[in-house]
Amino acid sequence: MATFPKRTHTCGELRAAHVGKDVTLTGWVQTRRDLGGVIFVDLRDRFGKTQILFAPQVDQAAYEGAKDIRSEYVLSVTGRVAPRPEGTENPELPTGTVDVEVHSLVVLNKAETPPFAIEDDIDVNEDIRLRYRYLDLRRPVMQQNLATRHRGYQITRSYFDRNDFVEVETPILMKSTPEGARDYLVPSRIHHGKFYALPQSPQTYKQILMVSGFDRYFQIVKCFRDEDLRADRQPEFTQIDVEMSFVDEEDVMSTAEGLAADIFKGILGVDVPRPFERMSYREAMNRFGSDKPDTRFGMEIRDCSEVVAGSGFRVFQETVAKGGIVGAICVPGLADSTRNQMDNLTALAKSMGAGGLVYLKVHGDTIECSAEKFLKPEEVKAIAVWAGAVAGDLVLLISGPWNKALTILGGLRLEMAGRLNLIPRDAWNLLWVTDFPLLEYSEEEKRYVAVHHPFTAPHPDDLALLDSAPDKVRARAYDLVLNGNEIAGGSIRIHSTEMQSRMFRLLGIDDESAKLKFGFMLDAFKYGAPPHGGIAFGLDRIMMLLTGSRSIRDVIAFPKTSSAMSLMDDAPSGVDPRQLDELHIRIV
Ligand code: AMO
Repeated sequence: MATFPKRTHTCGELRAAHVGKDVTLTGWVQTRRDLGGVIFVDLRDRFGKTQILFAPQVDQAAYEGAKDIRSEYVLSVTGRVAPRPEGTENPELPTGTVDVEVHSLVVLNKAETPPFAIEDDIDVNEDIRLRYRYLDLRRPVMQQNLATRHRGYQITRSYFDRNDFVEVETPILMKSTPEGARDYLVPSRIHHGKFYALPQSPQTYKQILMVSGFDRYFQIVKCFRDEDLRADRQPEFTQIDVEMSFVDEEDVMSTAEGLAADIFKGILGVDVPRPFERMSYREAMNRFGSDKPDTRFGMEIRDCSEVVAGSGFRVFQETVAKGGIVGAICVPGLADSTRNQMDNLTALAKSMGAGGLVYLKVHGDTIECSAEKFLKPEEVKAIAVWAGAVAGDLVLLISGPWNKALTILGGLRLEMAGRLNLIPRDAWNLLWVTDFPLLEYSEEEKRYVAVHHPFTAPHPDDLALLDSAPDKVRARAYDLVLNGNEIAGGSIRIHSTEMQSRMFRLLGIDDESAKLKFGFMLDAFKYGAPPHGGIAFGLDRIMMLLTGSRSIRDVIAFPKTSSAMSLMDDAPSGVDPRQLDELHIRIV
């Protein structure tokens, strides 16, 4: 039983061809303009906007009713489609050649004045948007972002279905998988003092599925990590998770490239050239100072260590002697930077962890150097030449341990390119970074930790180094980078119980605790684990980049703030003491 006139068309549907038809539209009032004698309303729904008009000569009661309606009222209107008078068409709007002359108005609901306008370019604090997310999501840009995300799901499912993958749901309440971040824990009511963990990723389950013979698995899955948040990180986010049996790196990478290509084609209509470029981790660090290099522009890092190793500048000399590096980037056109600007840049470098910043202002033949007390003119000249500087350039030099100095230079490179507008907007740069180190030493924990995760296989050529020089062992891991953002990461896995146990020992996990934490996995591997590998895409990040959004929050319906709060429903919040009692939990 219809309780109100149901729509015959959406608000984005009517065209000149509908003129003369009687139609019913439903939607929200975008704007209302009372011109005295005629009232215009833009009615909006997910599909678009249509101008409707109320006039006494069309229907007196509807006209009277329209006087009371306000922004965001919910209406059902019935009327006749009419051509707009010449000169009043709106070419910006697909429905812009017609009006609906309303002869019946039903106000389905009233609305309070919204705290911000429901339109795209609003200047409002994001906290307000998040607090009133239901209104924020009415804005066309947010509707488009979520529609694009929906398209992404469909393309993904279709791609994997066509390629013989099986979608399997894995548990949300699970045993903790250590992958670098902190777990979100869920107390068990039935088992006092015991906890489930929310998955940081379905890593262990998807490997077990390979042991079970599923061969090719994928899942669009929520993951949870209690880590420090940034614009591209959320405590709960979505992965496109993939695992494959009887494969090597090439198989996983080409499968991932196929998906990326389908997503680019389906969402942007862009054909991305395949295979994607590849770069080793060392090369990425040496040239770009990042393991997720943005290669859309140059300004590459030059290693000046040899040039300055014999100089009289102790800082440089000692750095090189200790095996560190002195690296440079050459910033075009900034040789005339003021003292104040250079002080600010120095402060920026220090905020990134640098001990200091040495710079050269290259003015044709004369070069001004901030360390001229310590460096001879010919040394300064040699640095400028080595850094590839020409007249007008500013050379920035950072010295320190390899990783640290390069990371700072990478940060400066991005910052300066941003300031100078050197990053092309419409370029799509997809790049694999490979040959990551398997392990790194954690000063904090005084042990080796896995760079990717403990299930990643070591490079077969480096096995001999596992005991003698663990930090030199390369991992069979790969990251996919899009315009300087890590959008996917994966690896070929260890599939033998012995190697997995050895890896746990290398990571300082003794047999006893390995058994406690991962016994199920070690056991499973005893029953015929196939060689396998996989990858996971960060769906939110991909959608952020494809929609040109500034934050992943703009492609997630109900995201958390940078302090992990949901401002709309006020999570996290206190709970009833009785709930805590049941869980045997006391707040201290
Ligand atoms: P990894 O930890 O590299 O790998 O995660 C895969 C991808 O997920 C995205 N991502 C995030 N996105 C938003 N918010 C976060 N907090 C966040 N953390 C990660 C990134 C990243 O590239 N199990 C392995 C995958 C595997 O080995 O198959 C894993 O989770 O885009």
